[in-house]
Amino acid sequence: MQAPKAMEKAVDSINEQGADLIINGGDLIHLGFRLSEPAAEKRWDIYMGLHEAIRGEIFSTLGNHDLVAVSPKDGSPPSKDPRAMFRTRLGLERCYYSFDTLGYHFVVLDSTLIKAQEASYGGWIDPEQLEWLKEDLSKLPPSTPTVAVTHYPLLTNFYAATVGATQATPEKFVISNNVEVLKCFAGHKLILVLQGHIHVDELIRWRGITFITGGAICGAWWRGPRLGTKEGYGMVTLDGDQVSWRYIDYGWEAKRRRTACCDPVKTV
Ligand SMILES: [Fe+2]
Repeated sequence: MQAPKAMEKAVDSINEQGADLIINGGDLIHLGFRLSEPAAEKRWDIYMGLHEAIRGEIFSTLGNHDLVAVSPKDGSPPSKDPRAMFRTRLGLERCYYSFDTLGYHFVVLDSTLIKAQEASYGGWIDPEQLEWLKEDLSKLPPSTPTVAVTHYPLLTNFYAATVGATQATPEKFVISNNVEVLKCFAGHKLILVLQGHIHVDELIRWRGITFITGGAICGAWWRGPRLGTKEGYGMVTLDGDQVSWRYIDYGWEAKRRRTACCDPVKTV
């Protein structure tokens, strides 16, 4: 199995950057949704070994793959709380939270909607979290530069660019109530939204807010680059309200690569 070796290489590269903080965009394990709880524990063990090897403070975001035992394929009972393992392993009370550092306010969102009956998921910020977000922001001086972090994107052109400009983006790629979420930031100084899930490097500037969709350490799920984005991670530099972004290829070359351009609408 190549993934642990690749991830070690990624950890070395991340440690060389000497970043002030590290933000993990989610999907720390793969396909937890369909695993039994004991099988998922094994995947978390592997991930945590790497997590602990990263130097510096890490802030983690829940991804759809981090949900455990929603619909186990081996027929074992579903979990009563599919987010519990993520919280326990990462020492979090809740999957959405905020923190302040280096003169910036960071809001980390839990953007996965579980659709247990369909054994599926989508992007969504639930009403309780929206209330929390408004309350959290209300305590801030409006001039505080703020960064939002979310696994599912709040804004992306991925679907338009790969499937067609007139096609609506399905909720498996984006937060479906994105406008409602962005309205919560009205009157505040949201400068940056860091997003994941899609495994491509994309940057959009809209009304003074920079939306960055990062690539992925695994690229196209360990089968080479994903639609031109290599296996990698991003480095953000903040200077006041200015945001700059560099995508870093940490040098991993997949042994088994996809021969054709990978399917843009592959389930992410
Ligand atoms: Fe994802």
